[in-house]
Amino acid sequence: MAVPPAETTAQFAADVRYYLSLVPRQLPSKYFYDPLGSALFDAITHLPWYTLKRAETRLLDVYAHGIFEAANPTTLVELGPGSGEKLLTLITAGGHARTPLDVRLVDISRAALVRATATLHARSAARVTTYEETYDAGLERLVREERGAGRTLVMFLGSNIGNFDPPGVDAFLRTVRAALGQSGTLLLGTDLVKPEPDLLRAYDDPLGVTAAFNKNLLVRINRELDGDFDVAACAHRAIWNAEAARIEMHLVSRTSQQVGIRGAGFVLQLEAGESIWTESSYKYQPADVQAVLAGAGFRVRAQWIDERDLFALTLAEADGSR
Ligand code: AVJ
Repeated sequence: MAVPPAETTAQFAADVRYYLSLVPRQLPSKYFYDPLGSALFDAITHLPWYTLKRAETRLLDVYAHGIFEAANPTTLVELGPGSGEKLLTLITAGGHARTPLDVRLVDISRAALVRATATLHARSAARVTTYEETYDAGLERLVREERGAGRTLVMFLGSNIGNFDPPGVDAFLRTVRAALGQSGTLLLGTDLVKPEPDLLRAYDDPLGVTAAFNKNLLVRINRELDGDFDVAACAHRAIWNAEAARIEMHLVSRTSQQVGIRGAGFVLQLEAGESIWTESSYKYQPADVQAVLAGAGFRVRAQWIDERDLFALTLAEADGSR
């Protein structure tokens, strides 16, 4: 797990060059998760102001049995399984810890796959296959590979879908639907719109952990692509964009700085006050979730909502009439 393969670095370099050339400047949020970024994200989930993860865990703890019964899967696929704990909760509450269920884990991070596999092997009889690739590539491979005659449940939790813009959500859901077949289901976790002060504290916490998570992207560019961002001169900013229903994270340069990024063959001129847009985290109303699912050819079977912290789990199936 030490050095990433050269093609990953080449892709990172190409993306950094492309997205930093755009105005406004941008960087893709998928690059947050190097080892330090993953540790900082894990720390974020422990912050009192970041309620999303705990709300989802509570919902799963209470409703896992019903969710498993409703989906009744023989193959479980999780896109971005994290530690594997959520999948284990579902399997255990479903009464299938001793059943050799077919489990497929999709993640670009090998470390995440190793960790989730260990969690499942330690406490269940699941047969785990790992796909070290993007969600799209993993779903395509799922279509090609043998799954027997049973039902597939695809899980996409943690409000990871929040990083997709509306066209991206639609394209992604259509890919999932194609991979499910007729009798499959999708379990989707979405963070819900809540009062603006709550949203802002979740993405600009008093401990500065989210600020560190955001700035680490520049630290990563400096280290992996031989860049010279003045990280200390960059400020973390979180904005609630109500029209678009998304939290935006930005890095704002306090000074005018010329940033050489040798590994990307690129020099960036940042003006004082200029920002780099690093993440969008879309928030939903419960009815929006149903609407985007319907638009992509799904029918909602059930929706579970945590009223305290406003988070939804939605179980959907391919709409056979479409
Ligand atoms: C992992 C994309 C769900 O958007 O809340 C946490 C990432 N960014 N704090 C989110 C994140 C800032 C997180 N997701």
